Amino acid sequence: MNNGRPAAGLGVVRDAAFVVEDGRVAWVGSASAAPAADESIDAGGRAVIPGFVDSHAHLVFAGDRAAEFEARMTGEPYRAGGIRTTVAATRAAADAALRANVRRLVAEMTRQGTTTVECKTGYGLTVDDEARAIRIAREECDAATFLGAHVVPAEYAERRADYVDLVRGPMLEACAPSANYVDVFCERGAFDEDETRAVLDAAKARGLGIRLHANQLGPGPGVRLAVEYGAASADHCTFLDDTDVEALAGSSTVATLLPGVEFSTRSPYPDARRLIEAGATVAIATDCNPGSCYTSSMPFCIALAVREMRMSPAEALLAATAGGARALGRTDIGHLGIGARADFALLDAPSYLHLAYRPGVPLIHSVWKSGVQVHRTQS
Ligand code: NIG
Ligand code: FE
Repeated sequence: MNNGRPAAGLGVVRDAAFVVEDGRVAWVGSASAAPAADESIDAGGRAVIPGFVDSHAHLVFAGDRAAEFEARMTGEPYRAGGIRTTVAATRAAADAALRANVRRLVAEMTRQGTTTVECKTGYGLTVDDEARAIRIAREECDAATFLGAHVVPAEYAERRADYVDLVRGPMLEACAPSANYVDVFCERGAFDEDETRAVLDAAKARGLGIRLHANQLGPGPGVRLAVEYGAASADHCTFLDDTDVEALAGSSTVATLLPGVEFSTRSPYPDARRLIEAGATVAIATDCNPGSCYTSSMPFCIALAVREMRMSPAEALLAATAGGARALGRTDIGHLGIGARADFALLDAPSYLHLAYRPGVPLIHSVWKSGVQVHRTQS
């Protein structure tokens, strides 16, 4: 069904068919050799791709920061401190409003071909507000990440060490039962190396996985720490030196690139080619959040990766599917090989190339999760 030019690594099958049984891919090959099935669907020449794996998003929040975006577009720089605006709105919101916001954004993602969503906390920053955020993230999304170390909230501005103790102590205690991962925004203006280590040591002691916001706004220790701690993923990776690139290439830590952030903050893009050529595993995710990047669209991020980061369309699709799966430690999603979860999207296009070739065009025709249709465009 996919008429794209064969691309290294993608495993494109032309005039293909596949069989789904019990929510998993049971057979895949040429349509002419397809076994009989109880029910069959003709994709009508549309390309079929694995569902996108969005391995980095911040969906548990209230309010928006459109005014901050407007100021950025007229010359203001992005500042990590803007997070505190969302913290105030989030703390004031009812549980039901936060849950509805997550559902709205997950539905928006589904309509754009995403079938797996990772979701972080980080806009509560009290024990109770983080605990409700991680519960909502766990219940509404596929992976939940505790990000109590997002910024130091205003009430702790003069007592940073106390806040770090709160995060790695009672806050982690309250959040750990619902968390798959712990994340730290390791950056000037957020948390330094020693503070990051303190949180990561506590996470490790509880056997939780690690992801890090690393080297987003400037050079720093984030990527090095991610590799040292065996993090599943180092995210952003915008300002890397040779040592960082070598460390990633020699590790199992995925370099997760978030080009929507550079687009929305008018910043330089990460050097994807350098990472790929060094042998690092690269993922692409949206980073959907109300501050640095309010897109939920993986196709948009693929188009940016191709146009702005010089990834080939095949590299970008792999990074948005199999790469995201690697970043979440999953082998059953992000591809459509035998045994994979039947998470896929049909494109209103003859090839995956159109994802980048037709930027901004809604190409997702229908979406299936574990073999069940979860979206279809109105026709
Ligand atoms: O990934 N870098 C830290 N966190 C988000 C931004 C959050 C915000 O500005 O509200 C990010 O870019
Ligand atoms: Fe983020």
